[in-house]
Order: sequence, then C-alpha cells, then structure tokens
Amino acid sequence: MSNDHAQQTVYRLAKQDSYKSIQPHTEPIPTPTKHEVLIKIKALSLNYRDYAIANGTYPFPVKPDVVPLSDCSGEIIDVGSAVNTVQKGDKVVVSFDPTNQYGPQRDWKHGHGGPVDGFLREYAVVPATAVVKIPDESTLGWPQLASLVCTGVTTWNALFGPVAVKPGQVVLVQGTGGVSMTALILLKAFGCTVIVTSSSDDKLQFVKEKYGADHVINYRTTPAWGNAAVKLTPGGQGVDAVIDNGGAGTIEQSLEAIKMGGLVAIIGFLAKPDEMPDVAALTLAKGAIVFVASPSAPSNTSRNL
Ligand SMILES: NC(=O)c1ccc[n+]([C@@H]2O[C@H](COP(=O)([O-])OP(=O)(O)OC[C@H]3O[C@@H](n4cnc5c(N)ncnc54)[C@H](OP(=O)(O)O)[C@@H]3O)[C@@H](O)[C@H]2O)c1
Repeated sequence: MSNDHAQQTVYRLAKQDSYKSIQPHTEPIPTPTKHEVLIKIKALSLNYRDYAIANGTYPFPVKPDVVPLSDCSGEIIDVGSAVNTVQKGDKVVVSFDPTNQYGPQRDWKHGHGGPVDGFLREYAVVPATAVVKIPDESTLGWPQLASLVCTGVTTWNALFGPVAVKPGQVVLVQGTGGVSMTALILLKAFGCTVIVTSSSDDKLQFVKEKYGADHVINYRTTPAWGNAAVKLTPGGQGVDAVIDNGGAGTIEQSLEAIKMGGLVAIIGFLAKPDEMPDVAALTLAKGAIVFVASPSAPSNTSRNL
C-alpha cells in the first residue's frame, strides 16, 4: 500500500508549558519500510508522565515538538516486505520503548511520547519488533488494551519482576491512580491482602466497594501511614511489599510500613519531602529490597494479562 498522498492529523507539543500547547498538524501518513508496520490507532491511554511532559516537570529527556502519549492500541493496516510476525488486521499494542523488548530498562532515550514521537495521531509506523499481538481470544476492548502499555507493564514488573509477590502476602499501594488500581486488581486476583492509601475518603470507600481493597488509610489525615499500615498486618510485622508512587516524599513511610526483608518497588515521583530522609539507613534497618519498576518487557506481561 502506498500512502504517498494520504494525510492524517498529528498532534505535537509546541512548548513544554501546558497541555494547551498541544496543537494539530496535517502530515503525511507514512509508508512502512521493510521491517516496519503501519498501525491505525484505535485508542490511547493517559499516564501521569504525559501530564508531566506537557507541563515541563518530567525529569527525563523530551524531544522538541514531540507527538505526546506513549500508550496506544491499534490495528495493523500495512506491513513491510520482510515482516512475517504480524499481518494486516492484527490487533496490537506498541511497546513503551521499542528498543527494549526484554530485561531491565537500558536508557531514557527511546520512550514513546518523550524522547521519541508517541501516538497522539491517527496512524503510526513502528518497527514490527515493537508491536505485541493481542491474542484472538482476548475480550479486552481498545481502551483496555491501550492501558496495558505503560501502567500495565510497569505494575506487572513491580509485582512479578525481580522479586515476585506471593499469594497471601500483604501489599500496600499508594494512591488511587492508574498504577495503584492496576496493582489492586492484579493483587486481589492473585490472592493478596491489599492496603490502599489516598488523600480522599470518598475514593477509599469507592475502592473498597468496587475493587475489594481490604484496608484503607487516608495519607492526608494519617501522615504516619506507615505505622498505621503495620498495625493492620498479621502480628504487626509490617507489609510484604509497597508500590511506591510518591518517591522521595513517600519512601520514609514506605520503609516504615514494610516488614523485615520487605520489598519496595519505586515507581513514581509524585511527592517531594521537606527534607530528604536517609534512605540507605532506613533500608538497612529493614533489610529491605528497594528496586525500580519500569515498563520494559511488554510481551511477557501481555501473555499473562
Ligand atoms: N517507572 C515507570 O516506568 C512508571 C510507569 C508508570 C507510572 N510511573 C509513575 O508512577 C506515578 C503514578 O502514575 P499513575 O499513572 O498511576 O498516576 P495517576 O493515575 O495520575 O495517579 C496519581 C495518584 O497518586 C496519588 N498520589 C499523589 N500524591 C501522592 C502522595 N504524596 N502519596 C500517595 N499517593 C499520592 C493520588 O491518589 P489520591 O487521589 O487517591 O490521593 C493520585 O490520584 C507517577 O509518578 C508516574 O510518572 C512510572
């Protein structure tokens, strides 16, 4: 298929000052080369990262005039002459970082919607190796599939990556955003006890009723939520794992909450402390494992989801 004359709408971020600087452009629909595929984008999902990139608070590289958004699902409508792993009509999601198909994250230079163009457009050409085919049996819709890319894979890697949580364990997830709610759903399916924190009592009530959160703590009205979480665990030993979305501003309470030898998965950078705690000493005191979860290795995750 030749797309020489076909046009599409592509949105680009002119300036990293606000999402209002995202402007539409008319650009050609690209033609895939030998090892590429052309995707018609069906759905996108938003991550906190997209908001941070738009307003200039994202701490990693962003290219000028970037096409925002890392997460899409779509249908393959054309393939290069050497592509034999996927075909026209396949439903796919695209890796967060097309150069990172397995193992740990290698660098910050290739994430879609940041250092390379993302998917806020109608069509995109990507390497065939960057797409993950959705199994025919999947009943997930386009938006659900799009939400697997960054949030889904990161959460999976946090829970089942270097050190896997086990059924029956107690896990604390911070806040009621995409990462934490994905973790809550996976953990409940896995047979874990889940403690959710939030700044909102209404949201806490909602996650109990809707997703079966076992315990909830308001981190605004209970600033020492780490100790409050410990009291909710069997024998007051502490939680087995924490999904830490706050970063510098929450790590102290996360390390307060976990049991000896517990696991803290560092995921986000939502909270800033007045004074940076001594993370090394706190980690030592708990014999804890602190690691960073990333959206790498999507194909393994999609097989499991
Ligand atoms: N490392 C990676 O590869 C990776 C991948 C995905 C996401 N992330 C990062 O992970 C973080 C969460 O992402 P997301 O997409 O889930 O965000 P999101 O959907 O925007 O959710 C953010 C939620 O976090 C909660 N929150 C904010 N400040 C908090 C604090 N001080 N303590 C506890 N909770 C707090 C709030 O929950 P309440 O409203 O309930 O208070 C807020 O609604 C972001 O920093 C994001 O950049 C990293």
